[in-house]
Order: sequence, then structure tokens, then C-alpha cells
Amino acid sequence: MALPRIDIHTHILPREIPKWKDQFGYGGFITLDHHMPCKARMLKDDGKFFREVESNCWDGAQRLLECDGVHVDVQVLSTVPVMFSYWAKPEDGAAIARFLNDDLAATVATNPARFVGLGTLPLQDPKLAIKELERCVRDLKFQGFQIGSHVNEWNLDDPALFPVFQAAEELGAAIFVHPWEMMGEDKMQKYWLPWLVGMPAETTRAICSLIFGGVLERLPKLRIAFAHGGGSFGFTVGRIQHGFEVRPDLCAIDNKVPPRDYLGRFYVDSLVHDKEILRQIVSIFGEDKVVLGSDYPFPLGEDRPGELIESVSEFSETTKRKLLFDNAVNWLQVDALRFLTASAPKK
Ligand code: CO
Repeated sequence: MALPRIDIHTHILPREIPKWKDQFGYGGFITLDHHMPCKARMLKDDGKFFREVESNCWDGAQRLLECDGVHVDVQVLSTVPVMFSYWAKPEDGAAIARFLNDDLAATVATNPARFVGLGTLPLQDPKLAIKELERCVRDLKFQGFQIGSHVNEWNLDDPALFPVFQAAEELGAAIFVHPWEMMGEDKMQKYWLPWLVGMPAETTRAICSLIFGGVLERLPKLRIAFAHGGGSFGFTVGRIQHGFEVRPDLCAIDNKVPPRDYLGRFYVDSLVHDKEILRQIVSIFGEDKVVLGSDYPFPLGEDRPGELIESVSEFSETTKRKLLFDNAVNWLQVDALRFLTASAPKK
């Protein structure tokens, strides 16, 4: 029998996005131009093209049809990171987050056995972010939140953000860290380098900030996951550990616990596109901490989510089940029974 699959890394948009520029009186926001049936252009409101998307980006029913075709039982839904809008004025960022979260809740409500929602937060204003976090957990029943790898000038260890992580821990909300606004982007526009080089570095920046800044140390119950196999962190952890040992004056100023001690404390998704690398991240982060993530419906994602995990012959059935299902249930702290009432047709 096919193993049940939860895909923790998928992106979704509302079908219609308000013209925030008209509402707020300044630009920089994303709009959707439905220029033909089932397709839309994501445009910056200055008209600059960002990305073409198809109806599976906003249509829950279409998503489930595609899930059935590739044997995905559950999609964990989060917005497209370009929508974070942390750069906007706080009250406007909060309005955007509320709009996106309400829309997400409506999609989850169409099929709670197959959709789980991760909200977005106006992190440029931690007080407003906590308010939205509480609303989403209590009223919208979200399991967690997707956040960016940094927030404007703050890395994730900035004291301003600590109360948000604290609130997530207290309320039992899972956190998914996704790279965005990639470092060096303006200097490496060619060859898709922001996505291929910048994104994995952004994720490492986020993990190192949370470790060195003592956030993971002070919040031992925070359940946090990082996209794209943890970016380049797994492959540079030796260097990071060595740096911590030889220059504690630079690295150990806020937390005396060595970086390696945190391996096994956080989750990473399985989106690495390479069998050997998947084996390695399972060995580095632990077989209880790697979760299926596909980046659906985008081209850098895994077309047949879970196929890479299934293809590693060295993984036992138990390991595969953990990666495809159990670890996601533990990270989200969701009742697995929720997913058993309706699931994808089996192979
Ligand atoms: Co993604």
C-alpha cells in the first residue's frame, strides 16, 4: 500500500488580490493580471513582471486534482514569499496579512482533511504580528506560520522578533522559514543566481542567526522548519562549528552552546533534488527531522512529491513513512486522524 504523504512546502495565492497601491497610496505591491483563462501574471504594481502562474496557484479544487495524480494526500499551504510585504507600513502589512490569512482559511475550510494552513505575519511590527498570530491560531485554527529568512534590517535573532517566536512557542504554532529577498540579488541577476545561490545562503543565515542568537536555546519547545533541505547549512555546519570553536569572541557572544548541538532540534524539508544529498541531510539532521516538501506549484520544485524519498533504496519503510508523513504530523502537532477521512487515490 502506498504511504500517506503530507507535503509541507506548497504555495498558494488568493484568486484576486486588491490593488493595494490605490488603497495605501504608495506602490511596490504584487497584483494579479488574469490575462487568459487559468493563467495570471504576477506583476509589481509598477507593471514589472514577476512570474506567470496558473490556476493551481489559487484554485483549491485544481490543486487536489493534481495531488490525486501524484498521490499527495495533504498539502500544507503558505503564501508566495514575495507577498510577505515586510517593507510596507506596519498597519498596511497587517491588513495584507489578514487578507491573505482569511483567504487561506477559506481554502482550508473547503477540505480540512487535505489542506493545512500556515499563515503569514506582519513581522515589521512585532506587536501587530503577535496579534495576527493569536487571531490565526484561535479563530482560523492555523497550525503555524511561514516567515521570511530575515525581516528588513533584522536577522531572525533580532531582539525585536523574539516575542513573536515566544508567542509561537506558547501557542504551539509551527514555524516554516522560507528564503526571500535574497542577499546579493542586485549583484547576481544573471543565471537565476538569486534562486540557485542566494536562497540556500539565506536559509543558512536564518539558521545561524537563530542558533548564535540563542533563540533556539531559549525556546526549546519551538517547532521550526527550514525550506530546501536547510539550504547550505547542512553542508557548511563543519565550517560553522569550527568558526565557533576558533573565534568564540565573534560567534559565541550571545550563546555558548555549539552549533552542532542543535542538529536534531529543528526540521528541514526534503527538497534537494538529489538522492545522495537527501541521504546526507537525513544523516545530518536526523530521520525524525526531515519532512516532505515540494515547492508546488513552482518550477524549482519536485514534480512528483515524495518520489525522491521513495527512490532511496537505503531508507527503510519506517524511515520513508517518517519523511513522508509522521514527521510532518509531529512538526505541525496536528491530529493525524484529520487526514484519514479523505485521502488521495492509492497507487
Ligand atoms: Co517555496
